[in-house]
Amino acid sequence: MSNCLVTGGAGFIGSHLVEALLERGDRVSVVDDESTGSIDNLAAVLDHPRLVYTKGTAADERLIRRLTADADEVYHLAAAVGVRLIAQSPIRTIETNIYTTELILRELGRLIDAGRTVKFFLASTSEVYGKNPKPRWTEEDDIVLGPTIRPRWSYGASKAIDEFLALAYNRERGLPTVVGRLFNVVGPRQTGAYGMVLPRLIDAALTGGPLVVHDDGRQQRSFAHVSDVVRMILALMATPAAHGGVCNIGSDRPVSILELARLVIAEVAAGSRNHHPSHSSPSAPRSSPLEIQFQSYAEAYGDDFEDCRRRVPDLSKLRRLTGLEARWTLEDVIAELVERKRKDVLSHRP
Ligand SMILES: NC(=O)c1ccc[n+]([C@@H]2O[C@H](COP(=O)([O-])OP(=O)(O)OC[C@H]3O[C@@H](n4cnc5c(N)ncnc54)[C@H](O)[C@@H]3O)[C@@H](O)[C@H]2O)c1
Repeated sequence: MSNCLVTGGAGFIGSHLVEALLERGDRVSVVDDESTGSIDNLAAVLDHPRLVYTKGTAADERLIRRLTADADEVYHLAAAVGVRLIAQSPIRTIETNIYTTELILRELGRLIDAGRTVKFFLASTSEVYGKNPKPRWTEEDDIVLGPTIRPRWSYGASKAIDEFLALAYNRERGLPTVVGRLFNVVGPRQTGAYGMVLPRLIDAALTGGPLVVHDDGRQQRSFAHVSDVVRMILALMATPAAHGGVCNIGSDRPVSILELARLVIAEVAAGSRNHHPSHSSPSAPRSSPLEIQFQSYAEAYGDDFEDCRRRVPDLSKLRRLTGLEARWTLEDVIAELVERKRKDVLSHRP
């Protein structure tokens, strides 16, 4: 049984990771300031005897010292995340992402001095590749960020600094470090409030639309289910050959945002027929089809915004190290999320 500390454990990915660690039999300590996450995300495990939850910031030196003191593994997920948040609050993005990582690594360095070695996972991001034009990104590709006058690149730049620092602790101090570059992650508990595309599209589709697609909708992304991503994170941490390196994590199946919106519409339409069988009778009123509405990036995020056309990982390294493949298809993920959301809406209806 290991003692695991998860920063950002009340967030979308963090809460799934916490559940998986508890299921594995570990003791789990969570620190989260609930800025973008919520304790509700941990509702299923909050009373678990092996879980300790602390509401607080990972920028609190005394708290981090106390929480890392008996940790065997630290999973650092606390960060300022989400395109909208980053475009609107670059100071918060830069300070949160760099300072918390620096603080935790310094504490882990102190523990090494005291003779204790703690494994460290850094949740990094595909945003580190910036707008590299290659069709598939491998871990050793160049970082191609936009200019500093465009705040959105501060997210990738801040995570790149985190990566440099985590890798330096591995080289100089022998800290077993895994840097996971997560590509788009989707699944239950992800909120659309900070600009995440799939929950935003599903919310729009279930409330009658329109589904807002940015730019021409032909930008491509690859989406992985959070349970697949958590399995990959745990497998990498358990693989000594992964320590001291960077590894892409996610799905390598590209889809355009326009196709994604159409998949959501198809799933919602199919679900509506199943939930309201009377709608299929010729006399029943037909609901109007859901519309897709295009919106420029300038309108969505301001004139400074700049995006990346295609973001798809090369997963050879992940496969070589762990042998893992994603179990979830995008269609299954969408079906699961639409079904859950529909149930939520129905259960909140007076
Ligand atoms: N969701 C994705 O598609 C994706 C893709 C790439 C990388 N990531 C990375 O994965 C991690 C988790 O992202 P997520 O999607 O679950 O987002 P999230 O916003 O749900 O999770 C982040 C959590 O960190 C907490 N937090 C923020 N600042 C904090 C601080 N100073 N102290 C303590 N807690 C703090 C938030 O309240 C939240 O619960 C982040 O590091 C993010 O950069 C996510």
